Amino acid sequence: MSQPLVELSGITKSFGVVRSLRGVDLRLGAGEVLGLVGDNGAGKSTLMKILAGALEHDGGEIRIDGEPKRFASPADARRERIGIVYQDLSLCDTLDVASNLFLGREPKRGPFIDRAAMHHKAAEMLSELHVRVRSTYQEIGELSGGQRQAVAIARAVSFEPRVLILDEPTAALAVAEVRQTLRMIHEVADRGVGVILITHRLQDLFEVCDRITVMYEGRSVADRPVDELDIETLVKLITRSGIDAEEAA
Ligand SMILES: Nc1ncnc2c1ncn2[C@@H]1O[C@H](COP(=O)(O)OP(=O)(O)OP(=O)(O)O)[C@@H](O)[C@H]1O
Ligand SMILES: [Mg+2]
Repeated sequence: MSQPLVELSGITKSFGVVRSLRGVDLRLGAGEVLGLVGDNGAGKSTLMKILAGALEHDGGEIRIDGEPKRFASPADARRERIGIVYQDLSLCDTLDVASNLFLGREPKRGPFIDRAAMHHKAAEMLSELHVRVRSTYQEIGELSGGQRQAVAIARAVSFEPRVLILDEPTAALAVAEVRQTLRMIHEVADRGVGVILITHRLQDLFEVCDRITVMYEGRSVADRPVDELDIETLVKLITRSGIDAEEAA
């Protein structure tokens, strides 16, 4: 990778006495899918909240296209076209699909929302990403978990991010829905977006990722191309089993 799109170096973050991040390095290239893995509490979500501007880091450096950046708010990160889909998806269950896609930036006709245009554009956006819903008039609350996930990703993609962070997008999905989400990730990366995928479903990583970064207790402990890894090695890296012994030897 010549000039990474995102480069995090030595990132630290504490919450009171809890040192959640103790020095994390991470690189992401354009069009690349990076898997970010680690045990519960390893610091993955905290690190991604920092990259998305939802939390400020204490130490270390964020570079975007080689330029040092500091994000004081999610708006700062959005300006750099960094998008994130949180596990809770942040969709509004009582609104329909189109309203969720355009929440806060609905197409207007005079002072009024242009519903016809909004639904038309929504249908276009979804079909471009091969997302199937019965109708853009369906309420989010009526959709399956996979469809909801797809709408949340489509909404994030519509802001034309350069970086898209997905925190556990497949955790609660059925098999076919996982397939659909992985397909979407492929499509988004094919557009040149750098994707960071957090997941505990290790088998998914081998289907979509180019590279995997492993975190352990607030540190990045490995960064490897996926074709140099297998599940067994990855599990060892995540749990540090055998590794500490090797280092001690
Ligand atoms: N707002 C907060 N206040 C205090 N501690 C926090 C806060 N956010 C995270 N932490 C702590 O930071 C550590 C890392 O948490 P984080 O949520 O980043 O882990 P994670 O790798 O995403 O885990 P998981 O796989 O379970 O989602 C944990 O020990 C957690 O308790
Ligand atoms: Mg997490």
